[in-house]
Amino acid sequence: MEIRALHPREDRSGFRSEDEALDRFFHKYAGQNQFRHYLGVTYIGVEGHRILAFATVAPGQLDIEDLPTSARKKLPRYPLPVLRLARLAVDESAQSQGLGAHLLRFVNQLAEKMADQYGCSGVIVDAKPGATEFYGKYGFIAVDPVEGQSDARPRPTMMFLPMSAIKAARGAAH
Ligand SMILES: CC(C)(COP(=O)(O)OP(=O)(O)OC[C@H]1O[C@@H](n2cnc3c(N)ncnc32)[C@H](O)[C@@H]1OP(=O)(O)O)[C@@H](O)C(=O)NCCC(=O)NCCS
Repeated sequence: MEIRALHPREDRSGFRSEDEALDRFFHKYAGQNQFRHYLGVTYIGVEGHRILAFATVAPGQLDIEDLPTSARKKLPRYPLPVLRLARLAVDESAQSQGLGAHLLRFVNQLAEKMADQYGCSGVIVDAKPGATEFYGKYGFIAVDPVEGQSDARPRPTMMFLPMSAIKAARGAAH
């Protein structure tokens, strides 16, 4: 699977995950958010002309009070810069073949580049109830936002993967 940024006139209509809201976002809003409003960037996993998976990322911030005490350590009191994994989905025909994990590794690499070039303390995601275990497998920890929780129902769990864990995982892979 090749991973690259979405092109402006890419046909996204054939993509179907098991999640209607994610599909609607991908079909209708991913392009305009990226190319008209510059809100974030969607990366797609493709094989030939088929889109097998997508991940949308945007810069974000995390309040230190949201982190468990053990993770705050000596961090400053002001909001921490993070990369937000706003959406992640794999086409239902290609799920359970490692593509979600592959795209997640790619997102972690983007966060690392951001850390090296602009600053980034980790990746955050609002995990849907069925996806918390998936993110947990890769070291994401649940955080408890003090305010500004998502309006989505059922309520997602905000999860955070610290940059130290991303760097350590890459170090271990070499
Ligand atoms: C969740 C999702 C992105 C996972 O992608 P995927 O390509 O199917 O998953 P992978 O094949 O990469 O799985 C990697 C590992 O995570 C596990 N896993 C996958 N989905 C899981 C889930 N929902 N819960 C727990 N574990 C999960 C797999 O068993 C696999 O474990 P293994 O390495 O021990 O075999 C995908 O199933 C999806 O798009 N689901 C619908 C939309 C969604 O829920 N998106 C997340 C929104 S927050």
